[in-house]
Amino acid sequence: MKNIITIDGPSGAGKGTITQLVAERLGWHILDSGALYRILGVAAKNQGLLLSDTIDTDVADQVTHLARHLDVEFQLNTTNGEVEPYLSGQNLAKEIRTDEAGQAASQVAAIPSVRDALLARQRDFYQQPGLVADGRDMGTIVFDDAPVKIFLTASAECRAERRYQQLINKGVGANMRALLKSIQARDERDRTRSVAPLVPAVDAFVVDSSSLDIQQVLSQVLVYIEKKLPGNHLD
Ligand code: DC
Repeated sequence: MKNIITIDGPSGAGKGTITQLVAERLGWHILDSGALYRILGVAAKNQGLLLSDTIDTDVADQVTHLARHLDVEFQLNTTNGEVEPYLSGQNLAKEIRTDEAGQAASQVAAIPSVRDALLARQRDFYQQPGLVADGRDMGTIVFDDAPVKIFLTASAECRAERRYQQLINKGVGANMRALLKSIQARDERDRTRSVAPLVPAVDAFVVDSSSLDIQQVLSQVLVYIEKKLPGNHLD
């Protein structure tokens, strides 16, 4: 049995933070699968490909070709301690975090052949002593045999409110109604696509963080991990 913890859920539910905290506790590696889809979305746009909710076959084929040959690397930035993505040597850390990149990621992620093209690449992230994998289909498809599966969710309103606060704290202007609309559009697309839709794995531990802070979520998740993987010295 491989040491894999999957953390799936909709955007803004706190998966990234929980993934990082759990990986730090265990000394395990991280897969941010959303970053791969975001990089692909940015790469497709940079090539002038027209993305939408109804991508035509020709564009889908070109995005799939890009996905198969994506020259992407993740490197630790020793100054800020973050793992940053590089596309053909170019640092894309900032570009992939925009709302536009998130929407583009969600659009390319709905193409079945794109998901196939990225499957092996995601599985290759597994390394000893273990992997914490963050995404939408980590527990249902990519690592369906993982011994620990978490599904982290929260209401759309709550996720929009958190995002709003993050942007305001960064000094970036934000519009609550636009944020909520964007989150709802992404949820709808991710949940209703024909392949690997966003659903909890049948054997996932579901945590609704709507009325919990990050420490409360973390402690519930750690208790569950300790139960499933006893002896991992989490404390
Ligand atoms: O986790 P994120 O917000 O960075 O993901 C961006 C988009 O990528 C998300 O809206 C849907 C897609 N995605 C996916 O389809 N499957 C994954 N495992 C991860 C992300």
